[in-house]
Amino acid sequence: YHMRLSDETLLDIMTRFQAEMQKGLGKDTNPTASVKMLPTFVRAIPDGSENGEFLSLDLGGSKFRVLKVQVSEEGKQNVQMESQFYPTPNEIIRGPGSELFEYVADCLADFMRTKGLTHKKLPLGLTFSFPCAQTKLEEGVLLSWTKKFKARGVQDTDVVSRLTQAIKKHKDIDVDILALVNDTVGTMMTCAYDDPYCEVGVILGTGTNACYMEDMSNIDLVEGDEGRMCINTEWGAFGDDGALEDIRTEFDRDLDFGSLNPGKQLFEKMISGLYLGELVRLVLLKMAKAGLLFGGKKSSTLLTKGKIETRHVALMEKYKEGLANTREILTDLGLEPSEADCIAVQHVCTIISFRSANLCAAALAAILTRLRENKKLARLRTTVGVDGTLYKIHPQYPKRLHKVVRRLVPNCDVRFLLSESGSTKGAAMVTAVASRVQAQRK
Ligand code: BG6
Ligand code: GLC
Repeated sequence: YHMRLSDETLLDIMTRFQAEMQKGLGKDTNPTASVKMLPTFVRAIPDGSENGEFLSLDLGGSKFRVLKVQVSEEGKQNVQMESQFYPTPNEIIRGPGSELFEYVADCLADFMRTKGLTHKKLPLGLTFSFPCAQTKLEEGVLLSWTKKFKARGVQDTDVVSRLTQAIKKHKDIDVDILALVNDTVGTMMTCAYDDPYCEVGVILGTGTNACYMEDMSNIDLVEGDEGRMCINTEWGAFGDDGALEDIRTEFDRDLDFGSLNPGKQLFEKMISGLYLGELVRLVLLKMAKAGLLFGGKKSSTLLTKGKIETRHVALMEKYKEGLANTREILTDLGLEPSEADCIAVQHVCTIISFRSANLCAAALAAILTRLRENKKLARLRTTVGVDGTLYKIHPQYPKRLHKVVRRLVPNCDVRFLLSESGSTKGAAMVTAVASRVQAQRK
């Protein structure tokens, strides 16, 4: 019951998030703000004049990719991409930081060799899906690792220069890292390439986060009042200062205790793909212990952290096959579920994933309201670019999210646009503009 949030509560959370955004944007209040509202130095959405050949790295989501992106400025906009996925084993993402960057540089060199791109100087855009403090586009100091990453000695250092150093060890490749882009920003830019109304980017994947275009006059941390700049909200950290304690449940607290970053990313831990399955497991375990499920029996798998994943939750919530999937998944977990158990487990999944969509909707409604107020409009028409495995694989998630957002902000006409090609196309657009500016300076 505690996870079922009424519209009244959601509107209250929306108001709290509006206050958090204001706090993060203020020069004096930012140091103690948990929602960091990071300036990205991306000042405009693509205008179709971008062109060139770029390399792109995409690190921090469920998959690590290296890409070559060719953008041609034809009458009809045209983007071609070739990519290669590389694994990210735990020893690499949780080992010494220098080894992580060396590994990334090795993968890049491997890609360039395979594609015949060695000895050709290419601009590179780095999509790095973690909170970074930027003072310019081509620099970013890691504030903290989130999600599954915890490489040592990287926090508080500039990831662009760390990667540049590692790349220098490969004498046969020559790249120039021109842009560091959060995945939300890449997603917004990817979608804005197709829809110029797009001014918000949301990720519902391993982690969750959002960015949007803010008026420069409201960004105390950056000089100048003209135009707009994209702000990476890092909304995953909402609640890290205790602002959501009345919403969090014992399951959220248990999950947090067992996580890589206790006390951090508390909003993210109620929403994103890395955590939803585990929340379901913790609820089922409590119910089994109380004799409310599986005749009171617990299997050793049900007792093991991480054994229920978000992809399982998505399968269990499928319209037609959901019930059969639930039986199969629970049986694989070493349980012997009755029909009633399966139905109850489906309910648990629905409550947890619905809460996730509701919370995301509340924060997104706050961003949309802010955009509408900035523009002094009675009604806002806008597009939100979205990406991430949770949004893509969960059968009901998008519909629920859209519905709740529209209910919370009836004075906004929102179009949700799924990014077809991840963050990379957008990151390439940012790199293209940076490369043009660099060429003009020379
Ligand atoms: C894509 C990106 O946009 O979505 C990734 O290219 C990003 O960088 C991802 O992190 C989020 O999805 P997931 O589910 O892979 O974490
Ligand atoms: C985490 C990261 C954030 C990223 C999000 C989605 O919240 O801190 O930077 O955008 O995950 O990948």
